[in-house]
Order: sequence, then C-alpha cells, then structure tokens
Amino acid sequence: MNKRTIRDLTDAEVRGKRALVRVDFNVPLDAGRVTDDTRIRAALPTIQALLDRGARVVLLSHLGRPKGKPEPKYSLGPVAKRLGELMPKQHIIFVESTDTDEAIKASHDPNAHVILLENTRFLGGEEKNDERLARGLAELGDLYVNDAFGSAHRAHASTEGIAHCLKPAVAGLLMQKELDYLGRALENPQRPFVAVLGGAKISGKIDVIEQLLPKVDQLIVGGAMACTFFKAMGFETGKSLVESDRVDMAKDLLARGTKKLQLPTDATVATSLDAPQSAHAVARDAIPAGESMFDIGPKSASQFASMITAAKTVIWNGPMGVFETKPFDAGTRAIADAMARATNQGATTIVGGGDSAAAVAEMGLEGAMSHVSTGGGASLEFLEGKTLPGVAALDDKP
Ligand code: 3PG
Repeated sequence: MNKRTIRDLTDAEVRGKRALVRVDFNVPLDAGRVTDDTRIRAALPTIQALLDRGARVVLLSHLGRPKGKPEPKYSLGPVAKRLGELMPKQHIIFVESTDTDEAIKASHDPNAHVILLENTRFLGGEEKNDERLARGLAELGDLYVNDAFGSAHRAHASTEGIAHCLKPAVAGLLMQKELDYLGRALENPQRPFVAVLGGAKISGKIDVIEQLLPKVDQLIVGGAMACTFFKAMGFETGKSLVESDRVDMAKDLLARGTKKLQLPTDATVATSLDAPQSAHAVARDAIPAGESMFDIGPKSASQFASMITAAKTVIWNGPMGVFETKPFDAGTRAIADAMARATNQGATTIVGGGDSAAAVAEMGLEGAMSHVSTGGGASLEFLEGKTLPGVAALDDKP
C-alpha cells in the first residue's frame, strides 16, 4: 500500500497526542444491544496500538442513515457499552452531545483513554463533506487515522474532508489489512485465481464482472443473477427474477467470457419462497414455467466447490441463493465450505463484506477464511477498480 499507516508514525507524532480515529461502528442493533460486534472487534488492534504508544484515542463513527440530525435509535450509546466490555481495562467516555465544545473538552480529558463521540451523521454537514464541519472535527485531534474501511467509499466530512485539514492523516491497521488483501489479490494473485459472484442483480455487479474478467482464471456466477444469463442463453426461466433490460449485456459477456464464465448447470427451484417443501433440483434448461430459481442446484454446487478447492486465490462476493431460507442456503454453504477447505490447503481466500460475510459468520467459518472484509459497498467498489475517497485523501508514503 502506498499510504502512510500508523506503523509509519514516529514516536513524536503519537506520544501524548490525541489520535482522532474514524472507525466503522455501523453495526446491527436490537433493543439497544449490539447483535454483531465484528466491526468493533476489528478496530481494536488500531485502538490498542495507539494506546500502547501513549496516545489518547478519540473515535468517530456513523451508525445507520439518520438524516443530518440526532435520532435516538441511531445513537452510538450501545456501541460505547460494547466497546467498554471489549476493553475492560480502558476508561471509555461516551460523549452524547453533538456540541463541538463539549467534544473538544472531552478530547483533552486526561483521565480518559478512549473517547467515543456521537454519530457523525447527526451532524448536518457530514454526508455533504462540508469543509467547515471537517475543520471543526479536526479540532478534536492532533493526528487523523482512518480505520473505517467499510466507509472508505464515502466522501464524507469525517472520512475524506478531514484528512485534508488534520495532518498527519494515516491509515489504521484494519484499513491496511483490507487494502493489502484485496489489493494483492487483484494485482498479484497466486493462480488459479477464481472469483465467485452472486446476488440478485447483474446490474449491481456488472462493473465488478468487467473488472475481474480479464484478471481471473474463472469467474463463477451464482444467485438470481444467473437467471439473466439463462435468459440470454435462450432458456425458460419460469417466474425467476430476470432483469430483462440486462439480457443483451449478459449475451455480450457470454460471448466475451466463454472460457472463464462459469454458470450453474442446474438450479434449485420452488413454487414460491414460502413453499420450501416444494423445492427440487432441475437442469438449468428445465426450469418449470410456474417456478422460480432460489438457489444453484447440487451439481453446480459441487462443480463450483471443485473449482474453488483447486484455486490458489479465491474472492467471493454475493450469495448463491436465498441463504436466509432453508433449503435455499445449500449453494452458499457449499461455497463457504469449499473456501474453508481451500484455505486449509494454503490458498488465499477473501470474502467480500455484506451478505456473504453474514453467511460465513452464520456458519461459524470466519476463522476458516484468510480474510473476511468488514466492508460491503467498499469492497465491491474496490473490486470494481474505483478509487476509495477515504483512502485517496490519506498521506502518501514518502
Ligand atoms: C456499510 O455498512 O456498508 C458502511 O458502514 C457504509 O454505510 P452506508 O452505506 O450507510 O454509507
């Protein structure tokens, strides 16, 4: 990575300083409790490393999508509580007020090791990347660290604007790890390099397909997205989700990617999602008129698993079917299992965030992958070859 990280900071730049760290604590809540603390745990190494080097840590994060003003259901209060449980030795202060003076006062509190400020999206200028807000936030620290990979595709005041106002502006350890894994896979993959793409819509994945096709040895396509390809191949797709306005695009990809594109050869179909008992497997050219594809079929699952276990680098983004509903989780499970086996055999396996990361977590296989990204939209945009504004704004390595 060509950006400075906290590892590159000199002691003079860290000791006794207020490190203002943008994290992505946009975590799911239920009844005021954090139900998945993966993103909080993922930020701990950076927080701890800064504390160990004598800095005080001031944390900024968004949560949910409040519209520029306080909304109690999006308060970071429950996150502060969970952070306190995860760092029992640290004195953690949560600043509920969005008043800048109070936040500045807290950032100077000599008794506090870690200060978590309230949701950045409670502030009007955050999503507009307002320069005045960025300058105001910059008052809260003596150096800026961006560890919020999951938000790096957003050009907001706390992710992008601030990096121009507060120097040094460097990447945290999570940010570095994410960029290293994803970057190495794209630039210098061990081969065979296999990408697995799923999800409902080809329209949301077209840029990533275009970007990956020239780089990979095989590009596996699953999920409802496969049905648009089936349509392009002239097959009956029943009631399956098909993007009719993307059929020509699918035809074009099929013509260009014949050797690399790997589509399911069979499908698990049912009359409706509410009738899982009607699920059965059919060949891809035999989807019944009144039924829909809700998962890849068992033959495809085992063919894809063989390709994955023969690979040296695997990147996966998007489920193979409606994995929240049994038995339509089988294809997604087969991919996760095969990736776990591939990791065991020495391959580098990377799971993009979002649904595929949720599926892997649900199966308890996070530890069996080389890397599970904490960013959904961000990892997709990275794989699409786009510049992430939150990264671009950080200091370059000399
Ligand atoms: C995410 O969950 O993908 C990130 O936290 C970004 O959230 P956003 O899509 O609301 O910007």
